[in-house]
Amino acid sequence: MATTTSLAVGALVGAAVLAATPAAAQQLAISCGAVGQELKLCRDGVAAWSAETGVAVDVVSTPNSTSERLALYQQMLASGSADIDVYQIDVIWPGILGAHFVDLAPAFEPATLDGHFRTIIENNTVDGELKAIPWFTDAGVLYYRRDLLEAHGHEPPTTWEEMATVAAEVQAAERAAGNERMTGYVFQGNAYEGLTCNALEWIHSHGGGRIVNDAGEVTVDNPDAVAALEEAASWVGEITPQGVLAYQEEEARGVFQAGHAVFMRNWPYAWALANAEDSPIKGKVGVSALPKGAEDGARTGTLGGWNLAVSRYSDMREEAMDLVAFLASYEEQKRRAIEGAYNPTIAALYEDAEVLEANPFFGELFDTFVNAVARPSDVTGARYNQVSTEFWNATHNTLNGSMSADRALSQLERKLERLSRTWR
Ligand code: GLC
Repeated sequence: MATTTSLAVGALVGAAVLAATPAAAQQLAISCGAVGQELKLCRDGVAAWSAETGVAVDVVSTPNSTSERLALYQQMLASGSADIDVYQIDVIWPGILGAHFVDLAPAFEPATLDGHFRTIIENNTVDGELKAIPWFTDAGVLYYRRDLLEAHGHEPPTTWEEMATVAAEVQAAERAAGNERMTGYVFQGNAYEGLTCNALEWIHSHGGGRIVNDAGEVTVDNPDAVAALEEAASWVGEITPQGVLAYQEEEARGVFQAGHAVFMRNWPYAWALANAEDSPIKGKVGVSALPKGAEDGARTGTLGGWNLAVSRYSDMREEAMDLVAFLASYEEQKRRAIEGAYNPTIAALYEDAEVLEANPFFGELFDTFVNAVARPSDVTGARYNQVSTEFWNATHNTLNGSMSADRALSQLERKLERLSRTWR
Protein backbone atom coordinates (compact mmCIF):
# COMPACT_ATOMS: atom_id res chain seq x y z
CA MET A 1 0.00 0.00 0.00
CA ALA A 2 2.86 2.39 0.55
CA THR A 3 4.93 3.13 -2.52
CA THR A 4 8.08 5.22 -2.58
CA THR A 5 9.09 7.89 -5.06
CA SER A 6 12.27 9.98 -5.06
CA LEU A 7 12.36 13.62 -5.94
CA ALA A 8 15.33 15.82 -6.70
CA VAL A 9 15.52 19.54 -7.28
CA GLY A 10 14.82 20.39 -10.90
CA ALA A 11 12.80 17.21 -11.46
CA LEU A 12 9.67 17.47 -13.54
CA VAL A 13 7.71 17.14 -10.37
CA GLY A 14 4.23 16.39 -11.68
CA ALA A 15 5.54 13.89 -14.19
CA ALA A 16 7.75 12.16 -11.64
CA VAL A 17 4.93 11.58 -9.18
CA LEU A 18 2.28 10.71 -11.72
CA ALA A 19 4.51 8.23 -13.47
CA ALA A 20 5.08 6.43 -10.19
CA THR A 21 1.48 6.57 -9.10
CA PRO A 22 -1.06 5.97 -11.86
CA ALA A 23 -3.99 6.22 -9.45
CA ALA A 24 -2.82 9.59 -8.12
CA ALA A 25 -6.31 10.89 -7.49
CA GLN A 26 -7.12 8.05 -5.07
CA GLN A 27 -3.83 8.17 -3.31
CA LEU A 28 -2.26 10.46 -0.76
CA ALA A 29 1.37 11.54 -1.11
CA ILE A 30 3.66 12.54 1.74
CA SER A 31 7.16 13.97 1.36
CA CYS A 32 9.63 12.62 3.89
CA GLY A 33 13.28 13.19 4.67
CA ALA A 34 15.77 10.41 4.01
CA VAL A 35 18.62 11.26 6.40
CA GLY A 36 19.72 8.21 8.41
CA GLN A 37 16.65 6.09 9.18
CA GLU A 38 14.13 8.82 8.39
CA LEU A 39 12.68 7.28 5.26
CA LYS A 40 12.22 3.83 6.75
CA LEU A 41 10.57 5.20 9.88
CA CYS A 42 8.28 7.38 7.81
CA ARG A 43 7.35 4.46 5.57
CA ASP A 44 6.58 2.19 8.53
CA GLY A 45 4.37 4.80 10.19
CA VAL A 46 2.55 5.53 6.96
CA ALA A 47 2.01 1.80 6.30
CA ALA A 48 0.42 1.40 9.74
CA TRP A 49 -2.00 4.25 9.01
CA SER A 50 -2.76 2.85 5.55
CA ALA A 51 -3.55 -0.54 7.01
CA GLU A 52 -5.97 1.06 9.47
CA THR A 53 -7.73 3.33 6.98
CA GLY A 54 -7.40 1.51 3.69
CA VAL A 55 -6.04 4.66 2.05
CA ALA A 56 -2.98 4.12 -0.16
CA VAL A 57 -0.08 6.52 0.32
CA ASP A 58 2.94 7.32 -1.82
CA VAL A 59 5.99 8.14 0.31
CA VAL A 60 8.07 10.64 -1.61
CA SER A 61 11.71 10.82 -0.62
CA THR A 62 13.38 14.24 -0.74
CA PRO A 63 17.01 15.47 -0.87
CA ASN A 64 19.08 15.21 2.32
CA SER A 65 20.13 18.85 2.24
CA THR A 66 17.42 20.93 3.85
CA SER A 67 18.41 23.81 1.57
CA GLU A 68 17.76 21.70 -1.54
CA ARG A 69 14.55 20.41 -0.05
CA LEU A 70 13.33 23.96 0.42
CA ALA A 71 14.07 24.79 -3.23
CA LEU A 72 12.09 21.73 -4.30
CA TYR A 73 9.12 22.57 -2.08
CA GLN A 74 9.09 26.19 -3.24
CA GLN A 75 9.02 25.05 -6.85
CA MET A 76 6.09 22.69 -6.21
CA LEU A 77 4.07 24.96 -3.98
CA ALA A 78 4.51 28.03 -6.18
CA SER A 79 2.88 26.11 -9.02
CA GLY A 80 -0.05 25.13 -6.80
CA SER A 81 0.78 21.48 -7.40
CA ALA A 82 -1.55 18.91 -5.79
CA ASP A 83 1.05 16.15 -6.15
CA ILE A 84 2.06 16.22 -2.49
CA ASP A 85 -0.62 16.37 0.21
CA VAL A 86 1.53 16.22 3.34
CA TYR A 87 4.87 18.02 3.60
CA GLN A 88 7.57 17.36 6.16
CA ILE A 89 8.81 20.89 6.86
CA ASP A 90 11.79 22.30 8.73
CA VAL A 91 11.25 24.34 11.90
CA ILE A 92 12.65 27.39 10.06
CA TRP A 93 10.08 27.33 7.25
CA PRO A 94 6.64 28.32 8.62
CA GLY A 95 7.39 31.96 7.77
CA ILE A 96 8.63 31.06 4.29
CA LEU A 97 6.04 28.46 3.23
CA GLY A 98 3.14 28.97 5.66
CA ALA A 99 0.83 30.60 3.10
CA HIS A 100 0.61 27.28 1.21
CA PHE A 101 -0.61 25.25 4.17
CA VAL A 102 -3.99 24.82 5.86
CA ASP A 103 -4.72 25.63 9.49
CA LEU A 104 -4.36 22.38 11.41
CA ALA A 105 -5.67 23.63 14.76
CA PRO A 106 -9.28 22.54 14.09
CA ALA A 107 -8.10 18.97 13.48
CA PHE A 108 -6.72 18.58 17.02
CA GLU A 109 -8.13 18.60 20.53
CA PRO A 110 -6.65 21.57 22.46
CA ALA A 111 -5.37 19.08 25.06
CA THR A 112 -3.42 17.22 22.37
CA LEU A 113 -1.78 20.44 21.20
CA ASP A 114 -0.99 21.35 24.81
CA GLY A 115 1.03 18.16 25.11
CA HIS A 116 3.57 19.45 22.57
CA PHE A 117 6.35 21.89 23.45
CA ARG A 118 4.70 25.29 23.48
CA THR A 119 7.63 27.02 21.77
CA ILE A 120 7.32 24.78 18.71
CA ILE A 121 3.56 25.26 18.47
CA GLU A 122 4.18 29.02 18.66
CA ASN A 123 6.92 28.77 16.05
CA ASN A 124 4.52 26.97 13.72
CA THR A 125 1.70 29.46 14.20
CA VAL A 126 1.55 32.16 11.53
CA ASP A 127 -1.16 34.83 11.61
CA GLY A 128 -3.08 32.80 14.16
CA GLU A 129 -3.05 29.59 12.07
CA LEU A 130 -1.26 26.40 13.02
CA LYS A 131 0.63 25.72 9.80
CA ALA A 132 2.28 22.49 10.90
CA ILE A 133 2.12 19.99 13.74
CA PRO A 134 5.44 19.23 15.49
CA TRP A 135 6.84 15.80 14.59
CA PHE A 136 10.34 15.69 16.05
CA THR A 137 12.68 18.24 17.52
CA ASP A 138 16.44 18.53 17.20
CA ALA A 139 19.37 20.23 18.88
CA GLY A 140 23.04 20.03 17.98
CA VAL A 141 24.99 17.81 20.42
CA LEU A 142 28.59 16.66 20.85
CA TYR A 143 29.35 12.99 20.23
CA TYR A 144 32.59 11.67 21.66
CA ARG A 145 34.43 8.37 21.71
CA ARG A 146 34.17 7.39 25.36
CA ASP A 147 36.67 4.59 24.93
CA LEU A 148 39.32 6.86 23.40
CA LEU A 149 38.89 9.61 25.98
CA GLU A 150 39.21 7.06 28.75
CA ALA A 151 42.27 5.41 27.16
CA HIS A 152 44.01 8.78 26.86
CA GLY A 153 42.91 10.03 30.27
CA HIS A 154 40.46 12.79 29.34
CA GLU A 155 37.03 13.91 30.48
CA PRO A 156 34.50 15.07 27.87
CA PRO A 157 35.36 18.72 27.13
CA THR A 158 33.26 21.65 28.33
CA THR A 159 34.89 24.43 26.27
CA TRP A 160 35.76 24.52 22.57
CA GLU A 161 39.37 25.18 23.49
CA GLU A 162 39.51 22.02 25.58
CA MET A 163 37.79 20.08 22.78
CA ALA A 164 40.48 21.18 20.32
CA THR A 165 43.33 20.33 22.71
CA VAL A 166 41.98 16.86 23.46
CA ALA A 167 41.17 16.26 19.78
CA ALA A 168 44.73 17.15 18.76
CA GLU A 169 46.28 14.97 21.42
CA VAL A 170 44.15 11.88 20.79
CA GLN A 171 44.46 12.31 17.02
CA ALA A 172 48.27 12.43 17.28
CA ALA A 173 48.47 9.50 19.69
CA GLU A 174 46.13 7.32 17.64
CA ARG A 175 47.97 8.10 14.41
CA ALA A 176 51.29 7.30 16.05
CA ALA A 177 49.80 3.98 17.12
CA GLY A 178 49.00 3.14 13.48
CA ASN A 179 45.45 4.46 13.33
CA GLU A 180 46.37 6.76 10.47
CA ARG A 181 42.91 7.86 9.42
CA MET A 182 41.99 9.22 12.85
CA THR A 183 40.85 12.84 12.93
CA GLY A 184 39.88 15.00 15.87
CA TYR A 185 36.60 16.70 15.03
CA VAL A 186 34.01 16.47 12.28
CA PHE A 187 30.97 18.64 11.73
CA GLN A 188 28.75 19.98 8.92
CA GLY A 189 30.94 22.42 6.98
CA ASN A 190 29.32 22.37 3.55
CA ALA A 191 27.85 25.68 2.36
CA TYR A 192 24.20 24.98 3.30
CA GLU A 193 21.76 25.30 6.18
CA GLY A 194 23.64 22.80 8.33
CA LEU A 195 26.64 25.13 8.44
CA THR A 196 24.38 27.92 9.63
CA CYS A 197 23.39 25.63 12.53
CA ASN A 198 27.02 24.85 13.44
CA ALA A 199 28.22 28.44 13.14
CA LEU A 200 25.33 29.76 15.20
CA GLU A 201 26.40 27.35 17.96
CA TRP A 202 29.99 28.60 17.85
CA ILE A 203 28.91 32.22 17.95
CA HIS A 204 26.16 31.86 20.52
CA SER A 205 28.42 29.82 22.80
CA HIS A 206 30.92 32.70 22.73
CA GLY A 207 28.21 35.15 23.79
CA GLY A 208 27.98 36.56 20.25
CA GLY A 209 24.19 36.48 19.84
CA ARG A 210 22.11 34.89 17.09
CA ILE A 211 22.86 36.88 13.90
CA VAL A 212 19.72 39.03 14.16
CA ASN A 213 18.27 39.90 17.57
CA ASP A 214 14.65 39.67 18.74
CA ALA A 215 14.04 43.25 17.68
CA GLY A 216 15.12 42.43 14.12
CA GLU A 217 18.46 44.26 14.38
CA VAL A 218 21.48 42.70 12.70
CA THR A 219 24.05 41.93 15.39
CA VAL A 220 26.37 39.46 13.69
CA ASP A 221 29.45 41.67 13.39
CA ASN A 222 30.72 41.63 16.97
CA PRO A 223 34.04 40.63 18.59
CA ASP A 224 32.65 37.43 20.11
CA ALA A 225 31.36 36.27 16.73
CA VAL A 226 34.71 37.08 15.11
CA ALA A 227 36.53 35.13 17.81
CA ALA A 228 34.16 32.17 17.35
CA LEU A 229 34.69 31.96 13.59
CA GLU A 230 38.45 32.43 13.94
CA GLU A 231 38.56 29.55 16.37
CA ALA A 232 36.55 27.27 14.06
CA ALA A 233 38.74 28.20 11.09
CA SER A 234 41.81 27.22 13.12
CA TRP A 235 40.51 23.61 13.37
CA VAL A 236 40.40 23.04 9.61
CA GLY A 237 43.50 21.24 8.39
CA GLU A 238 44.55 20.55 12.01
CA ILE A 239 41.99 18.52 13.98
CA THR A 240 39.41 18.64 11.19
CA PRO A 241 40.00 17.35 7.66
CA GLN A 242 39.72 19.85 4.77
CA GLY A 243 37.00 17.59 3.42
CA VAL A 244 34.67 18.78 6.18
CA LEU A 245 34.02 21.83 4.01
CA ALA A 246 31.86 19.52 1.89
CA TYR A 247 30.30 17.49 4.72
CA GLN A 248 26.62 17.42 5.59
CA GLU A 249 25.10 15.34 8.41
CA GLU A 250 25.59 11.95 6.80
CA GLU A 251 29.20 12.51 5.73
CA ALA A 252 30.16 13.53 9.25
CA ARG A 253 28.34 10.50 10.65
CA GLY A 254 30.03 8.22 8.12
CA VAL A 255 33.51 9.26 9.30
CA PHE A 256 32.63 9.10 12.99
CA GLN A 257 30.75 5.83 12.77
CA ALA A 258 33.58 4.19 10.85
CA GLY A 259 35.72 4.95 13.89
CA HIS A 260 37.78 7.73 12.30
CA ALA A 261 36.96 10.69 14.54
CA VAL A 262 37.25 11.48 18.24
CA PHE A 263 34.46 14.09 18.28
CA MET A 264 31.49 14.86 16.07
CA ARG A 265 28.81 17.52 16.09
CA ASN A 266 25.51 16.12 14.90
CA TRP A 267 21.80 15.79 15.68
CA PRO A 268 20.40 13.09 17.99
CA TYR A 269 19.49 10.68 15.16
CA ALA A 270 23.16 9.65 14.89
CA TRP A 271 22.90 7.96 18.31
CA ALA A 272 20.67 5.10 17.18
CA LEU A 273 22.86 4.40 14.15
CA ALA A 274 26.16 4.69 16.05
CA ASN A 275 24.84 2.03 18.43
CA ALA A 276 23.26 -0.23 15.82
CA GLU A 277 24.34 -3.89 15.67
CA ASP A 278 26.53 -3.33 12.62
CA SER A 279 28.20 -0.16 13.91
CA PRO A 280 31.96 -0.41 14.53
CA ILE A 281 31.62 2.02 17.45
CA LYS A 282 28.58 0.44 19.11
CA GLY A 283 28.72 1.01 22.88
CA LYS A 284 31.77 3.29 22.64
CA VAL A 285 29.98 6.60 22.25
CA GLY A 286 29.04 9.35 24.67
CA VAL A 287 26.83 12.39 24.03
CA SER A 288 27.04 15.74 25.79
CA ALA A 289 25.95 19.32 25.29
CA LEU A 290 28.20 21.20 22.90
CA PRO A 291 31.08 23.05 24.55
CA LYS A 292 30.92 26.72 25.43
CA GLY A 293 33.18 29.34 23.91
CA ALA A 294 33.64 31.77 26.74
CA GLU A 295 32.87 32.08 30.43
CA ASP A 296 29.82 34.21 29.61
CA GLY A 297 28.85 31.90 26.76
CA ALA A 298 26.43 29.01 27.02
CA ARG A 299 26.54 25.32 26.19
CA THR A 300 23.73 25.32 23.68
CA GLY A 301 22.79 23.58 20.49
CA THR A 302 20.89 25.09 17.60
CA LEU A 303 17.20 24.27 17.61
CA GLY A 304 16.21 22.12 14.66
CA GLY A 305 13.34 19.81 13.98
CA TRP A 306 10.63 18.80 11.56
CA ASN A 307 6.89 19.28 11.36
CA LEU A 308 4.02 18.02 9.24
CA ALA A 309 1.93 20.38 7.12
CA VAL A 310 -1.04 19.85 4.81
CA SER A 311 -1.03 21.56 1.44
CA ARG A 312 -3.85 23.94 0.54
CA TYR A 313 -3.72 22.43 -2.94
CA SER A 314 -4.43 18.90 -1.69
CA ASP A 315 -7.54 17.17 -3.06
CA MET A 316 -7.66 14.92 0.01
CA ARG A 317 -7.36 17.31 2.93
CA GLU A 318 -9.42 15.30 5.39
CA GLU A 319 -7.36 12.16 4.86
CA ALA A 320 -4.15 14.20 4.90
CA MET A 321 -5.04 15.72 8.27
CA ASP A 322 -5.87 12.32 9.67
CA LEU A 323 -2.52 10.93 8.53
CA VAL A 324 -0.73 13.89 10.10
CA ALA A 325 -2.54 13.41 13.41
CA PHE A 326 -1.57 9.73 13.37
CA LEU A 327 2.10 10.34 12.60
CA ALA A 328 2.47 13.08 15.23
CA SER A 329 0.73 11.04 17.94
CA TYR A 330 2.26 9.92 21.23
CA GLU A 331 2.59 6.29 20.08
CA GLU A 332 4.26 7.14 16.77
CA GLN A 333 6.65 9.64 18.37
CA LYS A 334 7.49 7.00 20.94
CA ARG A 335 8.24 4.41 18.28
CA ARG A 336 10.42 6.85 16.34
CA ALA A 337 12.29 7.83 19.50
CA ILE A 338 13.05 4.22 20.42
CA GLU A 339 13.93 2.98 16.95
CA GLY A 340 15.63 6.07 15.56
CA ALA A 341 16.50 8.48 18.42
CA TYR A 342 14.22 11.15 16.95
CA ASN A 343 13.40 13.54 19.77
CA PRO A 344 9.71 13.73 20.58
CA THR A 345 7.91 17.06 20.65
CA ILE A 346 5.54 15.74 23.32
CA ALA A 347 6.97 16.60 26.73
CA ALA A 348 5.58 13.51 28.51
CA LEU A 349 7.70 11.23 26.32
CA TYR A 350 10.82 12.54 28.09
CA GLU A 351 9.55 10.73 31.19
CA ASP A 352 8.78 7.49 29.38
CA ALA A 353 11.03 4.71 30.71
CA GLU A 354 11.40 2.92 27.37
CA VAL A 355 12.28 6.11 25.54
CA LEU A 356 14.88 6.99 28.19
CA GLU A 357 16.33 3.51 28.18
CA ALA A 358 16.92 3.67 24.42
CA ASN A 359 18.26 7.25 24.64
CA PRO A 360 19.66 8.06 28.11
CA PHE A 361 20.84 11.46 26.86
CA PHE A 362 17.23 12.55 26.19
CA GLY A 363 16.87 12.82 29.96
CA GLU A 364 20.40 14.01 30.77
CA LEU A 365 20.31 16.72 28.11
CA PHE A 366 16.68 17.70 28.52
CA ASP A 367 17.68 21.31 29.21
CA THR A 368 19.76 21.41 26.04
CA PHE A 369 16.73 20.38 24.02
CA VAL A 370 14.38 22.79 25.73
CA ASN A 371 16.77 25.76 25.70
CA ALA A 372 18.21 25.27 22.22
CA VAL A 373 19.04 28.50 20.42
CA ALA A 374 16.63 29.30 17.61
CA ARG A 375 17.83 30.57 14.27
CA PRO A 376 16.36 34.02 13.52
CA SER A 377 13.62 32.62 11.27
CA ASP A 378 10.94 34.05 13.53
CA VAL A 379 12.08 37.68 13.16
CA THR A 380 13.21 37.49 9.53
CA GLY A 381 10.14 35.52 8.36
CA ALA A 382 9.98 35.04 4.60
CA ARG A 383 13.55 36.40 4.28
CA TYR A 384 15.14 33.83 6.51
CA ASN A 385 16.63 31.71 3.76
CA GLN A 386 18.39 34.75 2.27
CA VAL A 387 19.79 35.66 5.68
CA SER A 388 20.99 32.13 6.26
CA THR A 389 22.51 31.85 2.77
CA GLU A 390 24.58 35.00 3.35
CA PHE A 391 25.58 33.75 6.78
CA TRP A 392 26.69 30.27 5.68
CA ASN A 393 28.62 31.76 2.75
CA ALA A 394 30.47 34.19 5.04
CA THR A 395 31.24 31.30 7.39
CA HIS A 396 32.37 29.02 4.58
CA ASN A 397 34.70 31.74 3.25
CA THR A 398 36.25 32.01 6.70
CA LEU A 399 36.68 28.27 7.10
CA ASN A 400 38.29 27.82 3.68
CA GLY A 401 40.70 30.66 4.38
CA SER A 402 39.59 32.90 1.55
CA MET A 403 38.54 35.69 3.94
CA SER A 404 39.33 36.70 7.50
CA ALA A 405 36.49 36.31 9.99
CA ASP A 406 36.64 40.03 10.62
CA ARG A 407 36.15 40.95 6.98
CA ALA A 408 33.57 38.24 6.27
CA LEU A 409 31.41 39.37 9.19
CA SER A 410 31.63 43.10 8.45
CA GLN A 411 30.64 42.46 4.82
CA LEU A 412 27.85 40.18 6.01
CA GLU A 413 26.57 42.80 8.43
CA ARG A 414 26.32 45.37 5.60
CA LYS A 415 24.42 42.95 3.35
CA LEU A 416 22.03 41.93 6.11
CA GLU A 417 21.49 45.57 7.11
CA ARG A 418 20.22 46.29 3.61
CA LEU A 419 18.05 43.18 3.65
CA SER A 420 16.68 44.04 7.10
CA ARG A 421 14.60 46.86 5.64
CA THR A 422 12.28 44.13 4.39
CA TRP A 423 11.47 42.79 7.86
CA ARG A 424 11.82 45.81 10.12
C1 GLC B 1 18.37 19.02 10.83
C2 GLC B 1 17.48 19.95 11.62
C3 GLC B 1 16.97 21.07 10.75
C4 GLC B 1 18.13 21.78 10.12
C5 GLC B 1 18.98 20.81 9.32
C6 GLC B 1 20.23 21.48 8.78
O1 GLC B 1 17.61 18.31 9.90
O2 GLC B 1 16.42 19.26 12.20
O3 GLC B 1 16.20 21.97 11.51
O4 GLC B 1 17.71 22.85 9.30
O5 GLC B 1 19.38 19.73 10.13
O6 GLC B 1 21.01 20.63 8.05
